[in-house]
Parts: sequence; structure tokens; C-alpha cells
Amino acid sequence: MRRSTAAVLGTLAAGAAGLAYARWEAQHYTLRRATAAVLPAGQPDLRLLHLSDMHLVPGQSKKQAWIGSLRDLRPDLVIVTGDFMSHVDAVPHVLDALDPLFDLPGAFVLGSNDYYAPMAINPARYLAGPSQLEPSRREMLPWGDLVDALTTSGWLDLSNARATMKVDGREVDVRGVDDPHISRDRYAEVAGPFEPEADLCLGVTHAPYLRVLDGMADDGADLILAGHTHGGQLCLPGVGALVTNCDIDRKRAKGLSSHRESALHVSAGLGTSPYAPVRFACPPEATLLTLTP
Ligand SMILES: [Fe+2]
Repeated sequence: MRRSTAAVLGTLAAGAAGLAYARWEAQHYTLRRATAAVLPAGQPDLRLLHLSDMHLVPGQSKKQAWIGSLRDLRPDLVIVTGDFMSHVDAVPHVLDALDPLFDLPGAFVLGSNDYYAPMAINPARYLAGPSQLEPSRREMLPWGDLVDALTTSGWLDLSNARATMKVDGREVDVRGVDDPHISRDRYAEVAGPFEPEADLCLGVTHAPYLRVLDGMADDGADLILAGHTHGGQLCLPGVGALVTNCDIDRKRAKGLSSHRESALHVSAGLGTSPYAPVRFACPPEATLLTLTP
């Protein structure tokens, strides 16, 4: 065999192996644990389950069962930072997955994929900057049905809304925005100092755009939760995320970091677009955040 032919065959074999691995990794659901010191002195820990970017479609029973099994962690509070679904028939599957968690205090915001059905996009476009939505070319998803069902189950819709929650006897001042990635955020409608007497001040957004993080941090959020980035989804080992699909820097594409005086946690999420069911060096995740004094 000529040397050039062998090189081409070797490259194709390596590509096929990498693709097979990335498809496997996309279903290798992982629980990540992290600790954030954001509670007042003297308080007992609070366990916050952060879910994001599930992108559920019919037929993902393994993912649904894994999400439901997180109830065994006995969290005190569940926050979902959007992109619940990626299919017009996904709502019942989302509700089945989350049903074991509905007896817990919970709150959520929506992401762009809860509003619009996914489309095949050339992955190289993400290297040029945040993706642009073209609503005229997209099918609307039944996001109103999803919101109705989640709120009927007792969870709070934080899309451009704020509220006070009682969690394990503690007062949580929480606010959120609708998805900044598609310009639905209206932070001015929830802006203003967080409640100084609250035990925890929480900001929630799907996409961690800097304008939203700035507003929440300047108003005194102890902790801001976000998703959307998929942690980069395809990462280089030792380098990390190549893109964030928004204006946050790549070093904060997933995990705990900070923004000004606030702690920031960005979830790498549990799913993918159905048109790109691959993840590399960035397993799908849920996070159990232990909040400590
Ligand atoms: Fe997503």
C-alpha cells in the first residue's frame, strides 16, 4: 500500500473512531458535585440540583430515567436553566423525567430550544460567533403547555420574573430572565437590590450573557445559575471549550467561577441538538451544588 493511501485510511479510521466515541459520550450522563460558600455564617448546608439543556426528544428513556433517579440525592431545591426539549412531542417526556422531583421546591427559565424546533446547522458556524436564530424558518414548540404543566406541578416560572421561595426553612430571593440568546431578556422588569434579609439571593438565566450577569451581580446576587453553553460540547482535552455560543469567555463555559462579587455556575447540560448527537471531552451532566456558609 502506498504511504499516502495508508495515511488517508488512517485518518478516516481515526475520524470514525472519534465519532463513535463522541456518540457514546453524549449518553454517558454524569453527576458533578461542587461546593459554593454563599450562605450566611452559621447556616446548615443547602443542596441545590442544577439541571440544564436536557433537549429531550421522544425515545430517550435512558436519559429520562437518569434524570428521575436524581431524586435519590435528596436535594433541597431544583433549578432548571432551560432547553428542556427539542421536539414538538417532547412535553410528556419532559414531565415524566421530572416527575420524581416535583415534590421539591423548584424554579426554571426557558431557553431558545423550548420555543423553536431545532434545525441542522453547520457546526463550523459556531466558530464564527453566537448562533443566529431565524424564527421565520422555525417550527414553534408547545412551550406554553410546558410552562403550564411545570407551574401546575408547583415550580416557579422565572422568565423575567422574581419571587421569594421557602427552601428548608430558609428564605430565597430569586429572579430570572427569559432567554437572552434570542433577546427575550427584560432584566429591567426584575432589577433592583436583592432582599437584604434573604438567606440566599439567586439569579437564573438560560444563556450567560454578560449584560444579564452584570445586572444580577450588581444587584447583589449570591449565586447566578446558567446553562446554554453545553460546556463547549466538543472540547479539546487540556484546552477545554472552543466556543461558548454567547459573549462569556471560554474559561467560564462550565462549572463554578465568579462574576464580579457573585458566584457563577454554568451547567454543561445533559443534551445535544438532535442533529449533532455528539459530545467530546465534555460529558452530559447534572450538578449537585452544596451551598455552604
Ligand atoms: Fe442547549
